[in-house]
Amino acid sequence: MPLQIIVGTQWGDEGKGRIVDWFAAHAAFVARYNGGDNAGHSVTVGSQLFKLHLIPSGILHPNAVAVLGNGMVINPKSLLAEKDMLRAAGIEVTPKCLHISHAAHLITPAHQAMDAALEAARGKGSIGTTGRGIGPAYTDKSARRGLRIADMLAPDFSDKLLAHLTDSNKSLAQLDAPALEIQPILDAFKSYAEAISPYVFDTSTELALALSEGKQVLAEGAQGTLLDIDHGTYPFVTSSTTTAPGVLPGLGLGLTSASGATVTGVCKAFQTRVGSGPFPTEVFDKLALRLRGTGANPWDEYGTTTGRPRRVGWLDGVLLRYAVRINGLTELVITKLDILSGFETLKLCVGYQRDGNILSDLPFGPSNIEAFEPMYEELPGWSEDVSRARRMDDLSTAARNYLTRISSLAGVPVSLVSVGPEREQVVLLD
Ligand code: IMP
Repeated sequence: MPLQIIVGTQWGDEGKGRIVDWFAAHAAFVARYNGGDNAGHSVTVGSQLFKLHLIPSGILHPNAVAVLGNGMVINPKSLLAEKDMLRAAGIEVTPKCLHISHAAHLITPAHQAMDAALEAARGKGSIGTTGRGIGPAYTDKSARRGLRIADMLAPDFSDKLLAHLTDSNKSLAQLDAPALEIQPILDAFKSYAEAISPYVFDTSTELALALSEGKQVLAEGAQGTLLDIDHGTYPFVTSSTTTAPGVLPGLGLGLTSASGATVTGVCKAFQTRVGSGPFPTEVFDKLALRLRGTGANPWDEYGTTTGRPRRVGWLDGVLLRYAVRINGLTELVITKLDILSGFETLKLCVGYQRDGNILSDLPFGPSNIEAFEPMYEELPGWSEDVSRARRMDDLSTAARNYLTRISSLAGVPVSLVSVGPEREQVVLLD
């Protein structure tokens, strides 16, 4: 299929980066369509671990052009730092392999300062944002006062940026937050504009053309279904459309581009979340530490962007089924199966109950799930290390049964299972 959309089915951190990297081997374009540097996509190639926040994971493949779509909010300082990090690792990022939409929005230091000030003002009700200025940048976009990549290339950009910073300082004062020093930001953005201008393209047109020529376009979702601004655990969500339908407005593609698309949902073999908000299957204490890891390994459950320990729990089949419906998933990829080796039994949430009523689906979306009690099915665990498994037959019956049960709960087939951080550590299913 020319268009393949890869989305997270949970609260982000499902391991999408390494899965996009796996599928990107034959892609002509790998395009991000939402979010900004709040994302943290980790890809391990040989002995090198890449932590990407803005640039799509496809950049690690010489065949693919990496695209930052119009649905994104881009902090140019982070983007240039990521480019330098890749260069230091031997990957040259040139205008041949990185294309930025002229219509993507900018994140400025004022957005970051507003993010921090708004979180402080929320007090106990804080969302636990990544502090990257994502919410304030999308707020400016919706209020039709945002700054776009194309603005940065226009002669009056300094005036627009000055007006934005002056207004933001007024808003910061209302929140008792310190004002920003304006001149250094104006100077910095002048140099960012020069550095970024060769990378600016009409990405909507080039992606449409690629699809019409039958070339493969991979759309890389950031965050996950349950952080979607409309369909997530509102208000504990991010500010963009993280779900698969967001690919169309976020990349500037028409409806028919998606007909026949493969929609791949990446689902961790257990559940994690960073930041505040409901999490019915959350576990604590020793069990949480066992699932999270101590932080000694790069794949332990600590935020790639913020380093915060992630909340952890059993896989929630009700939320997974919801993610299948909202995204229109055609297949699932299960990640981190190796972390579950060594459990005597595993729990899977197969329904919710409240006041004697049993529900296998969400009554009003996921926002009020705190009011429900998860109902679990227990499955036998497995003791063997699965990290060397490459075919379904290499897995024990218990591990295969766990995957089969997830697939039956979701109602879509599992196409791939990752059993370790390395590129080749995957089990390919029929
Ligand atoms: P924001 O996107 O920084 O505004 O954060 C809003 C919520 O989304 C917070 O709970 C964050 O922890 C969460 N979030 C944002 N990006 C990611 C991500 O890439 N992985 C996991 N959680 C994220």
